[in-house]
Amino acid sequence: MSTAPECITVRTEGRVGIVTLNRPKQLNALNNQLMDELGAALKAFDADENIGCMIVTGSEKAFAAGADIGAMATYTFADVYKGDYITRNWETIRSVRKPVIAAVSGFALGGGCELAMMCDFIIAADNAKFGQPEIKLGIIPGAGGTQRLPRAVGKSKAMDLALTGRMMDATEAERAGLVSRVVPLDKLMDEALGAALIICDFSQLAVMAAKESVNRAFESGLSDGVMFERRMFHALFATQDQKEGMAAFVEKRKPDFRNV
Ligand code: HXC
Repeated sequence: MSTAPECITVRTEGRVGIVTLNRPKQLNALNNQLMDELGAALKAFDADENIGCMIVTGSEKAFAAGADIGAMATYTFADVYKGDYITRNWETIRSVRKPVIAAVSGFALGGGCELAMMCDFIIAADNAKFGQPEIKLGIIPGAGGTQRLPRAVGKSKAMDLALTGRMMDATEAERAGLVSRVVPLDKLMDEALGAALIICDFSQLAVMAAKESVNRAFESGLSDGVMFERRMFHALFATQDQKEGMAAFVEKRKPDFRNV
C-alpha cells in the first residue's frame, strides 16, 4: 500500500493478519475508499509468506452497517452502471486464497452482512445482528446477498430477511447456519485468533486446497464438486507436507509443515 490506510487499521498477531474496519462515526459504513483499502490489505497479506490466515473485524457496535448510504444517495443508474459502483472493488476479497475469518460484533447489515458472507466463515459475538435491510431504502442487496444468504440459511429465512428487512440476532444466525460459532463479546477476538492460529499451523497447501474445494460446492453440481475434491486430494500426495503430516502421526510427534 503506497499511503497509510484511513478507513481500516492493519496489524498482525503471529502469522495472522488482522484488518479492522475503522469508520466509527458511520458505524463502519462501507465506501469505495474503505473497500479499496480492505482489498489491498487482504491481497498484501495473501502475498506475504509469513501470513497463514486473516481476520476481518469491526468495532463492538458495528462490523459494518452497510454500504455508505450518504455516498450512494444521489447516484443515478448511469453513475452506478458506468462506474460499477461498489461492486467493482468488492470482488477482491474473493480472490484471496488464504482463509479469511469474519469476527463480527454489533451490526452486520446490508453490505456489512454481504462482506461477512464473502469471508470463509463467521464467528459472531453474542451482540451481533445480521440483516439485509436494503428493501427499506428502495433497493436490494448488491454484493451477493440474495445469492449467498439463501445458500447459507435456506430460502425461507433469506426471503424473510430480504423482504422484511428485519435483523436476526447471533443465536438465530447460528441456528440458521450463517455463523459457525457465537461467543461472548469480550471473547470474540480470542476465539477468532485461536481459530486462525490453528489454521496457520497446518500445511498451507492443504488449507488452500480445503478452502478451494469447499468453495467449489457453491459453484458446481455434486459430481463435479466431488471430482474436484478428489483431484485436489490426489494432488496433495505430491507434497512433502503430506509425507510429514502422516509420518508425524505415525511417529507420535508434532508435524513440521514447510508448505512445500
Ligand atoms: C452511512 C450510516 C450507515 C450507513 C449508520 N450510519 N449506517 N451512514 N451509511 N449504512 C451513520 C448514521 O447516519 C449515524 O450518523 C451514525 O452512523 C450512527 O447511526 P445511528 O442510526 O444514529 O445509530 P443507531 O440508532 O444505533 O442505529 C444503528 C443502525 C442504523 C440500526 C445500524 O444506523 C441503520 O439502520 N443504518 C442503516 C443500515 C442499512 O440500511 N444498511 C444497508 C445499506 S445499503 P450521524 O452522522 O447521524 O451520527 C447496502 C447496499 C449494499 O448496504 C450494496 C453493496 C454493493
